[in-house]
Amino acid sequence: MGMKERIAEIHEAMLRELAGTDEMKSLEALRVKVLGKKGDLTALLRSMGQLSPEERPAAGALINEERERITALLEERAQTLKEMARKEALKRETIDVTEPVTMPAIGSEHPVTLVMNEMIDCFTGMGFEVVEGPEVELDHYNFELMNIPKNHPARDAQDTFYVDDNIVLRTHTSPMQARTMLTRKPPIRVICPGRVFRADEVDATHSPVFHQMEGLVIDKDVTMADLRGTLNAFAEYVYGKGITTRFRPSFFPFTEPSTEVDLTCAACHGKGCRVCKGTGWIEVLGGGMVNPKVLEMCGIDSSVYSGFAFGIGLERIAMQRYGIPDMRLMYEGDVRFLGQFR
Ligand code: PHE
Repeated sequence: MGMKERIAEIHEAMLRELAGTDEMKSLEALRVKVLGKKGDLTALLRSMGQLSPEERPAAGALINEERERITALLEERAQTLKEMARKEALKRETIDVTEPVTMPAIGSEHPVTLVMNEMIDCFTGMGFEVVEGPEVELDHYNFELMNIPKNHPARDAQDTFYVDDNIVLRTHTSPMQARTMLTRKPPIRVICPGRVFRADEVDATHSPVFHQMEGLVIDKDVTMADLRGTLNAFAEYVYGKGITTRFRPSFFPFTEPSTEVDLTCAACHGKGCRVCKGTGWIEVLGGGMVNPKVLEMCGIDSSVYSGFAFGIGLERIAMQRYGIPDMRLMYEGDVRFLGQFR
């Protein structure tokens, strides 16, 4: 058999096997079988020794051409196999976008959080800074520095959760007045939102845990008119135009004079309705001029500085604002209720 025929035979055999390769492994095996050290074409090259010197160059050229053709064919097949594998992988990894999915439930902010954030926006817009303090508080700050002496009825074990003789769960955010005055120099303008605790029975308008936002301003020449202006601005910011405040005389040991503050009923705009029990007003906060005795106890010269303070009940505001009839709804964590505030 001549060289050309041998080459043609190898070529044919190689083509047949090439079509049968279905992965890189079998393709590599084929390469070794034909072009490897012990491969068919290599064997043919070795057999050239039996040819006469005149025949050798032509035979060598033929074999080399065939080697190149085979190399090209193998390379082409490799590309095809790669492409097939890629298509196969894509098919396997395809995501069926029409398949129905279950959406994760999206949470919502609690009405108290909503009201709190809105009030923070309002007061920081007026130059107040937000401060926070401990919920487990020393009697000293919660009562003593707030001018509530040992025998005051507000300290009654009925109202206050005592941790021990000197430590309480804060009954209001007012201890932050003392903490702020003791660590800062006037002018002071802070608000302090947070949780407070009282040993109250749970009912539609009471809870042993609720929220307040304290406000404190200390500067030269601060008057009750500044308190009024600040709270009027707050009323309009939170409830809208036409909502104003009404001050009623009251008493707190830490303010003098003290006031209970009502807002125009937002439900009827002051005309009188069920929400405000016909009065046109809703009571939402207490306030007053910081008692000079408190200023002095907290290291502020009351002959130079004066100030006002207020404490707003956040649950009250939220209930009024969103028409929530029962305070307990806000602590039960029922998503059907909470989901309404999205
Ligand atoms: N701390 C008072 C309360 O809990 C509210 C208040 C704060 C009153 C600041 C006057 C000044 O009822």
